[in-house]
Parts: sequence; C-alpha cells; structure tokens
Amino acid sequence: MTKSLIITIGLPGSGKSTAIKKCFPKAVVISPDHISYDDDGHFDVTRLSRAWKESYARLFSELSWTYDEQAKTIVFDATNLTPVSRGPLIAAGRHFGFEVFALHLKVSSEETKRRNAARSGKDPVPDSVIDIMATQLVEPNAYDPNEFDTVIPVR
Ligand SMILES: Nc1ncnc2c1ncn2[C@@H]1O[C@H](COP(=O)(O)OP(=O)(O)O)[C@@H](O)[C@H]1O
Ligand SMILES: [Mg+2]
Repeated sequence: MTKSLIITIGLPGSGKSTAIKKCFPKAVVISPDHISYDDDGHFDVTRLSRAWKESYARLFSELSWTYDEQAKTIVFDATNLTPVSRGPLIAAGRHFGFEVFALHLKVSSEETKRRNAARSGKDPVPDSVIDIMATQLVEPNAYDPNEFDTVIPVR
C-alpha cells in the first residue's frame, strides 16, 4: 500500500487548491479554509480556531485509519509557510508510515496578488496580508531530513 501525505506551501491565492485538483484529483483534501469561509465565500474569523481544530482532528483520523485500502493520498491544504507549522504535520505523517511530500507554489507575491484579485466566489486576501506573509515564508529545504521526502515545485 502506498501512503502519501502532501503538504502545500504557498501564499494565500498562490494557487494551492487549484494545483491539488489538477495533480491529486482523488486525494482526501483537508483544509481549514473549507470551514473558515462561509457558504457565500466570506472569511469568518470567528470560525478560525474551530477550523484548525477540526482540520488537525481530521488529519489524524485519516492518517490513522487506512484499513483495507490499496493506496491513500491525503493533502493538507493550508499556507504552511514555516518549518514550525510544517513540523508536526510531517512528524504525524511519518509516524503513520506515510511518505511526506511538499507541494510548493513557487509564485511571487506580485503574481499571487494578481491571482487573488482575479479570484471569484471567495473574499480576496488583502495585499497587505500577502506582503506580511511573504516575509514569513521559509522555502522547503529538500536536503533537510526533518523536512520533506520530496519537494514538488509548482508555478
Ligand atoms: N497557475 C495559475 N495561473 C493563473 N491563475 C491561477 C493559477 N492557479 C490558480 N489560479 C487562480 O488564482 C486564484 C487562487 O487560486 P487558489 O487555487 O484558490 O489559491 P489558494 O488555494 O492558494 O488560495 C483562483 O482564481 C485561481 O483560478
Ligand atoms: Mg485554497
């Protein structure tokens, strides 16, 4: 049985969810965004802590429950900008025998802002927030054994 955990890395609006649909159409996708945006596509900050709690709970349940499956691909779709935010996800995946991949959106903040402005159906993330998050981003290090087994770059 092949077990893969894909952890996305990218600014808000860089194209993570689009890339997942294209590259891993059959994967189990876990995303705090699915909970923190309401049905009309408005970001609701009061949902944020529940969104993260439920996403972590679902990730652990999906990692631990792989009974009688041929193969399983789980995607954790969030910005995951820093090694500190990625570390627990990577450790959890390895603990349950998953190969751990980074899906790294190598998209500049300028292009991210353009994609954000053009998006429909969902509140755009303010440019000022993208600028701050761009300063926090630490690119994945393919040579660090504590990071990913494989880094998949996407543009
Ligand atoms: N490779 C791409 N080139 C141009 N626009 C893109 C690309 N990938 C995604 N987009 C557009 O950018 C916007 C944000 O994409 P999305 O996948 O929702 O980003 P994220 O999940 O990182 O927030 C959407 O409107 C999407 O259609
Ligand atoms: Mg998304």
